[in-house]
Amino acid sequence: MENVKVLIIVVVAFSVSSVGSLGLEDLKTCDFRAVYNFGDSNSDTGGGSAAFWIAGLPPGETFFGRPVGRASDGRLVIDFIAEHLGLPYLSPYLDSIGTSFRHGANFAIGGSTIRPQNESMTLNGVSPFSLDVQIVQFGNFKVRTRYFYDQGNAGHRRNLPRPRDFSKALYVFDIGQNDIAAGLRKKNDTDFHASVPDIVDQLARAIQNVYEHGSRTFWIHNTGPIGCLPVSLHYRDIRREELDDHGCLRAQNAYSMEFNRLLKDRVLKLRTELKHAALTYVDIYAAKYELIANANNQGKS
Ligand SMILES: *[C@@H]1O[C@H](CO)[C@@H](O)[C@H](O)[C@H]1NC(C)=O
Ligand SMILES: *[C@@H]1O[C@H](CO)[C@@H](O)[C@H](O)[C@H]1NC(C)=O
Repeated sequence: MENVKVLIIVVVAFSVSSVGSLGLEDLKTCDFRAVYNFGDSNSDTGGGSAAFWIAGLPPGETFFGRPVGRASDGRLVIDFIAEHLGLPYLSPYLDSIGTSFRHGANFAIGGSTIRPQNESMTLNGVSPFSLDVQIVQFGNFKVRTRYFYDQGNAGHRRNLPRPRDFSKALYVFDIGQNDIAAGLRKKNDTDFHASVPDIVDQLARAIQNVYEHGSRTFWIHNTGPIGCLPVSLHYRDIRREELDDHGCLRAQNAYSMEFNRLLKDRVLKLRTELKHAALTYVDIYAAKYELIANANNQGKS
C-alpha cells in the first residue's frame, strides 16, 4: 500500500511541472467534475469482471473488504487520482448494478490493447475491448447521457453526469502494455519496431477523437517496465546476463522505452495540433521503475 502512495506522489509531481509549462489561461485549477478513463488492467475498476468473470477474493480483501473486480488487492493509480480530486471511485461503464456515473465512467478492461488484435481472450487473454471500442462506448455514453438527462426524472439524473461537465472532465489514458506483450509473443524484433509508430498513432487518434467530442484536459500515462513484471520473469528460464541490476529483463524494458519515446514525441506534437487542449504526458515508467529499484526502502517486506 505504501508503494502506491509513493507512486501517486511521484505522478502528481510530474503533473504539476507539465501542466505549469502549458500556461493555458483556462486551466487555473484542477477542479474536475468527472473523470473518464480508458485502459487495461492497470486501471480496470471492475469492467473486465462485469464482462467476463465473477469477482472473487483475495483481490479487494485488504482495502475494500470485498471483491471489487480489480487486478489488485488495493487501490489502483486511477483510484488515487479520483481520491485526490475529491471524486468517488470510477464506475465501470459495463457495470449496471448499483452504479452511479455522476462523476464519470471507466472504460478500461483488463487485457485491452490499443490496436485490435487478431487474437482472443481464450487464446492469450486479449480483451476484445480494444481502445477503438472503448472510444465508441464513450461516444454512446455521451449521446445517451444527453438524451436521458434531458428526458429523465430526478432519479435518473442523479446517476448521470451533467452534460455540461463533459468538457470540464479529466480524460485519462493508460494503455499500451498489452500491445507490447502481443509484440513480444511474436518474437520478431523487425516486426515489433515496424509496428510501434502505428500503435502510437492509433492512441493519438483516439485522443483526437475524444477532443472532437469537446474534451479538453488529457492525462496520458506512458507504459511501465514490462520486463520487471513477475509474469515476464516466471514462465521461462532466464540467463543472468539478460537481467539488469534490479532483476528486470533488459530487452523487454527496451520495448517499453521505445514505445514511450515515440509516445512522448507524439504527445508533444498533439499539443500543437489540438489548440484548446491541455495534454500531460505522465512518466509512469520512471515512477514504477524507481519503486522497483528501491523496493527495500519502500516498504517491501
Ligand atoms: C490483424 O489482421 C488484419 C488483416 O490481416 C491486419 O490488417 C491487422 O493489421 C492485424 N492486426 C494486428 C494487430 O496485427
Ligand atoms: C520477421 O518479420 C520480417 C518482416 O515481416 C520477416 O521478413 C522476417 O523473416 C521475420 N523474422 C523471423 C525470425 O521470423
